[in-house]
Amino acid sequence: MQPELLRNLIAADMLAVDAMIRRRLESDVVLVRQIAEYIIAGGGKRLRPALVFLAAGATGYRGEHHVELAAVVEFIHTATLLHDDVVDESELRRGRRTANAEFGNAASVLVGDFLYSRAFQMMVAVRSMRVMAVLADATNAIAEGEVLQLLNAHNFAVTEAAYLEVIRRKTAKLFEAAAQLGAILGEASAELERGLARYGMHLGTAFQLIDDVLDYSGDAAHTGKNLGDDLKEGKPTLPLIHVMQRGSPEEAALVRSAIEHGGREDFRAVLDAIHSTGALDYARSKAKEEARLACEAIVALPNSSFRDSLLELSAFAVERDY
Ligand code: IPE
Ligand code: IPE
Ligand code: MG
Ligand code: MG
Repeated sequence: MQPELLRNLIAADMLAVDAMIRRRLESDVVLVRQIAEYIIAGGGKRLRPALVFLAAGATGYRGEHHVELAAVVEFIHTATLLHDDVVDESELRRGRRTANAEFGNAASVLVGDFLYSRAFQMMVAVRSMRVMAVLADATNAIAEGEVLQLLNAHNFAVTEAAYLEVIRRKTAKLFEAAAQLGAILGEASAELERGLARYGMHLGTAFQLIDDVLDYSGDAAHTGKNLGDDLKEGKPTLPLIHVMQRGSPEEAALVRSAIEHGGREDFRAVLDAIHSTGALDYARSKAKEEARLACEAIVALPNSSFRDSLLELSAFAVERDY
């Protein structure tokens, strides 16, 4: 996790969540442990646990449940990654071969299920109906988002609004849940809880917009993922939607065909069209707007270094290169 302020502020909690994650991976089924540890050991930014901590801190929480819930959120995230890499046929994640590449699709899907269900075992321990409702709704929305995205694959007619609907569900919903959980722990007023949830939703939307930019512009050495996975799967992400709206008839036709057929053959040509139409800057400007809305959503939060870190995190979501 990059932002300086954040690192100092929640350093102890981040260590605690790491230890908790490792403890809760235990299973007497060796392959479960092996695969779960494989993907967890790859690291990751641990952004969603950080969000739980910052929201809990910003609303004055002083208890112990935040570490458990941060681990729950990271488990749910990790489960979605295991499943997502199977669906996307991805080969690189967190700088190493994906679990599906290493252990096969079947094992990845099943260990993803293990992580989901372990997360549910853990959240029960917090004994809060509200916490469970937030997490149950979030996991359900993520599943819907991934199915919606599957339906949109190879469809060049997907609109910007339909694209945004997918990313709100598949990605932003878990950011929303993480921030809201912190507020619930902190027993924040209904208004502050709503504000933090909205912050998470906008932050997560910005975060996925940039993820989709990095799929065309990132450096695998930084992102730990292969470029071009989205094009390969025929995903109509915002950079491509922009080319189809603003490009020349030839550029638009190229992208339509690339979405329809998938694969990596057109990657260079599509990249040229993306650059000539300023599609990445367009997507970045949308991300920036989402980050601004995120900051606006927490103006009512009392001043604190936690609040400052939340603001800093919104800038990181847009400026990041990994
Ligand atoms: C990857 O999330 C999946 C998306 C929602 C874009 P992260 O970029 O947070 O993945 P890790 O946990 O840091 O590897
Ligand atoms: C995010 O979408 C997936 C989830 C929310 C599980 P992507 O498919 O773009 O994520 P990466 O790029 O594989 O991490
Ligand atoms: Mg993917
Ligand atoms: Mg991606």
